[in-house]
Amino acid sequence: MSRYTVKDANASVTTTELLKRKQAGEKISVVTCYDAAFGRIVEGSPVDVVLVGDSLGNVMLGFDSTLPVTVDHMIHHASAVTRVVRRPLVVVDMPFMSYQVSVEDCLRNCGRVIKESDAQAVKLEGGRRIVPQVKALVDAGIPVMGHLGLTPQSVHALGGYKVQGKGSEARKAMIEDARALTTAGIFALVLEMVPADLAAEITAAIEVPTIGIGAGGGCDGQVLVLHDLLGFDQDFNPKFLKKYANLGAVIAEALVTYDNEVKAGAFPQTKNQF
Ligand code: KIV
Repeated sequence: MSRYTVKDANASVTTTELLKRKQAGEKISVVTCYDAAFGRIVEGSPVDVVLVGDSLGNVMLGFDSTLPVTVDHMIHHASAVTRVVRRPLVVVDMPFMSYQVSVEDCLRNCGRVIKESDAQAVKLEGGRRIVPQVKALVDAGIPVMGHLGLTPQSVHALGGYKVQGKGSEARKAMIEDARALTTAGIFALVLEMVPADLAAEITAAIEVPTIGIGAGGGCDGQVLVLHDLLGFDQDFNPKFLKKYANLGAVIAEALVTYDNEVKAGAFPQTKNQF
């Protein structure tokens, strides 16, 4: 499949399809993905949406937060994903300081991401303060996913990776942010580390689908970091995570067996030779 081939709307998940899912009461599944190796596997799965999250800073690049991630990092990884992912909708996270400075800066950076990575949408963190950016992007024809609750790019301002929206003022503010983003034109909203009853209230209050992570079962869909749900890191066990496999241990065991066989002369065998 060549780049710049517009996806077949009948065979691919679109932003309008997600809206219909909400209206029909059908749940939406989202996973992160950062490269072609996993992209091929996700493409063969029934998952609806692929998020090229800026969590790639932690998962792929070894940073201890998402703050150092650049627009070039996002384009590099998103391009690898879109080369192989055709059916699910591909959304790219805009990294820290690529959209906050001004509307013009935001349009330029998001435009670059869409043009150079061939993804279909961007995700921005924040509420009412980014409404001008969201409106400008939607006007320019770029679909936007919002992100409220724990917004990891604001980790220093939030004082850590904590549950958000506790207390009546914080709840009210998040509902107002969700409404403002919806009016500005977002097609979906990620709610991260939000009390389940607040996430359910926001889900009922807005027309677009909510996608939860640590936000309970009342959301219209769920998102998890792919490497987390596959169990790459045995020491990472937050309450919101369910591990569907234990690949970290499987890979570690495979590497020990490979190392043993190489050193014992048991690999390669005759059948592996030419
Ligand atoms: O960067 C990311 O992976 C995310 C999800 C956790 C929602 O923003």
